[in-house]
Amino acid sequence: FRVSWDVSVAEKAGYKHFMQKEIHEQPRTVADTITGFSSSKDEKLFEMLKDTDRLYIIACGTSYHAALVGKFWIEKFAKIPVEVDYASEFRYRDRIIDDKTAVLGISQSGETADTRFALLDAKEEGAKTIGLVNVVGSSLSREADYVLYTYCGPEIGVAATKTFTAQLVALLLLALETGIKKGTTTYTDYEKIHEELLHLPSKIEQLLQKDEEIKEIAYRYMNASDFLFLGRNINYPIALEGALKLKEISYIHAEGYPAGEMKHGPIALIDEKMPVVCVIPQDRNYEKMLSNLQEVKARKGKVISVATEGDRQIKELSDEVIYIPKTSDYLYPALTVVPLQMLSYHIATLLGKDVDQPRNLAKTVTVE
Ligand code: G6P
Repeated sequence: FRVSWDVSVAEKAGYKHFMQKEIHEQPRTVADTITGFSSSKDEKLFEMLKDTDRLYIIACGTSYHAALVGKFWIEKFAKIPVEVDYASEFRYRDRIIDDKTAVLGISQSGETADTRFALLDAKEEGAKTIGLVNVVGSSLSREADYVLYTYCGPEIGVAATKTFTAQLVALLLLALETGIKKGTTTYTDYEKIHEELLHLPSKIEQLLQKDEEIKEIAYRYMNASDFLFLGRNINYPIALEGALKLKEISYIHAEGYPAGEMKHGPIALIDEKMPVVCVIPQDRNYEKMLSNLQEVKARKGKVISVATEGDRQIKELSDEVIYIPKTSDYLYPALTVVPLQMLSYHIATLLGKDVDQPRNLAKTVTVE
């Protein structure tokens, strides 16, 4: 009698792939990151940020998209001007650094060479450095002056999922907390958003129930050769992330664009073969986003909308709608990204691709 036991199957806890498991872990990793942030607050970090004139956020890949969302929050709540840069670009340009400059490096692994070395260069030039990492004890966490963590446990799938939503949570809390310390955010606003944040895990849980529905959508569009992802404002980086997820694991060409820029190029590509994913929650950019969606429809593009529950008119205008629960305008990115992760997961698996280890990609890039 032999028991066959496969370590990787056991670690997948019944899921087919690590990526799927990690997508489904998000209610917990988001909750843990909220708790972890409050229980390990470093007051010296906020003191430093209160005094900061300029913040650069540097990162690569998915972490870069989290940085783009973080910029909106930090400028809104902490009123610090933020520049977001690819670490590989930041390293080789003339940046303006003085003793009131801070540089935040975001990296799941804490080992990405470009992010690490960009941060070290900035440190040498006199910037205060902060790391936002998932891996405890990683190089970046040791090299930065201040460290923040996402509390996700190991992420195995090459395409980052749970660490992205956790990075968002950490960045929002960083922005709010700095805002409170600086006096640029009111307690009322803080409380309101914080309260909503606490509901995020259960709202993500609701989204995960839509697995079959999203799989069916994936089935209808899996043979497309190109996808366009559109979003506005705080959800524009989510369009970028949706496109990145799809190309990473399904090898389908996909582009993410700020919807207002569509008329300056991508609109030329739209025809009846082109699925266009519109991230269109009911926030203050809704009307503008809606007119972009209509422009897509007018050119016969296939519209897949990610919209807020209860938005009935979107149903008339879209070929497919994935509804997400209602939340505060500021929190939508942490919800809108989840169906996009699920969509690319299903497209890739339906196409028979190896989602956990896509070709040519590495989980951690320790070379330049
Ligand atoms: C690689 C991975 C991506 C990741 C990026 C940045 O490209 O495949 O999933 O987003 O590196 O990694 P980091 O560990 O620095 O967040």
